[in-house]
Amino acid sequence: MADTGESTTPRKAARASGRDLLVVILAAGRGRRMHSTTPKVLHPLGGQPMLQYSLDTARQLGAANIVVVHAPGQRPLLEPIADGARLVVQGRPLGTGHALNQVPQPLRGADDVLVLYGDVPLLRTSTARRLLQARRKGDVDAALLAAHLSDPHGYGRVIGEDGSARIVEEADAAPAELAVDLVNTGIAAFRGAALWPALRRLKKSSRTGEYYLTQAFGAMPRRTVVPAPEDEALGVNDRWQLAAAEAALRLRKNRELAESGVMIVDPATTYIDAGVSVEPDAVIQPFTFLRGRTTIGARTRVGPYAEIYDCRVGQDCVIGRSHLEGSTVEDGVNIGPFNRLRSGSLIARDARVGSFAEIKNTLVGPESDVHHFSYLGDAVLGKGVNIGAGTVTANFDGVEKRQTVIGDGVFIGSDSILVAPVKIGDGAYTAAGSVITHDVEADALAIERAEERQVPRWSQRKRRKPAPDG
Ligand code: UD1
Ligand code: CA
Repeated sequence: MADTGESTTPRKAARASGRDLLVVILAAGRGRRMHSTTPKVLHPLGGQPMLQYSLDTARQLGAANIVVVHAPGQRPLLEPIADGARLVVQGRPLGTGHALNQVPQPLRGADDVLVLYGDVPLLRTSTARRLLQARRKGDVDAALLAAHLSDPHGYGRVIGEDGSARIVEEADAAPAELAVDLVNTGIAAFRGAALWPALRRLKKSSRTGEYYLTQAFGAMPRRTVVPAPEDEALGVNDRWQLAAAEAALRLRKNRELAESGVMIVDPATTYIDAGVSVEPDAVIQPFTFLRGRTTIGARTRVGPYAEIYDCRVGQDCVIGRSHLEGSTVEDGVNIGPFNRLRSGSLIARDARVGSFAEIKNTLVGPESDVHHFSYLGDAVLGKGVNIGAGTVTANFDGVEKRQTVIGDGVFIGSDSILVAPVKIGDGAYTAAGSVITHDVEADALAIERAEERQVPRWSQRKRRKPAPDG
């Protein structure tokens, strides 16, 4: 996962290191164990494609060049997130060593080559940096990131110490080797000058016909093994491992936020995406989902049972059990419980919305109230507006969406239907139960309903009626 608080820009970091860094992300495997038509590295993890984590790490390291090796036909899917990374195709999936060997000649001049596996997304940038330093400081040809796992099943094992370490794939391992719990994370830093010739010398595995990069590590004259925390080593080969990665990432995010001053009341039921930021003293109640690029301001209380997607929420707000997406909520706003905020809405400071309101593509002005089962769509409300219970903007005429404009200090009576396009002037009132189809002047009362009529003794007569037969 991307470290937060990176202070140096990628370019500055590159200059500071005084060397060129090439990061190669291997992502061309078939990912067959996912049983999916979506490429494995594009499956969502923590609210973003899995590949995004390796790309972020590469950028934070200040890599001069980033290469993503991908399978045929995936370019259009990868382009939207590549953002400056070179996409290189591996025509046939002939193994990790073969994949790395697809890096074009002109990019092979870098002193340092860091290899990331696109399906090992939980690596921290700080660990990658430690790995690169170990390679440089020890002046070795390769530094391999390895981890002791409580369940090493499915991973290549690292056999032997530093200088003589080599990797044995699980399928090729002898029983004694299988008992080793030190596994290959797949992530390694190489001296460029030593790596490329070694790749050319790789031999096909007689078992699979693939060229293993792991063999290249064992062939390096000078090599070292760098330990990684267990959670960073997790490889995602199937959906069960993807769920495990999601759980690990979620815990990490919750903890990071808690350590920065956010109150996470129940981490076990709090789901916060990697790209979300929350300011100190905010309180996140149980069963809350903060998704995408959401930001939550200081001292705001969210939940329980709130879902917020890609929203900017200000400070000192209260968001009760509600569903919010693609909207902005200014400071001091009170939302819910049971509110639905749909995309393109802006709730200005100190407004109160909900319960049972649906608000879409609407600006609710400061200090306004929208309560009790209202629907506001494509509307602009001024300051201090009161929307009565059951108010509906009839914004769709069957062909087009139309706008409702409500001025400052307007009072909309209960059960008003505002048929758009329509404008209600500042300070005006609409009477309860009115269907408003014409613009209302400032400070006027608009009333539109049939005159009330009373039928004397009506119920008395009804009660005296003979009961129907049977
Ligand atoms: C690999 C390692 C194993 C290690 C584990 C860590 C090898 C031979 N084995 O096993 O030692 O413990 O990762 O998670 O490296 N890829 C390509 N082209 C290919 C094959 C794979 O780009 O032809 C990419 C995949 O997309 C993936 C990565 O390389 O991102 C690893 O490949 P995968 O098939 O998942 O290897 P593992 O069996 O997990
Ligand atoms: Ca893998």
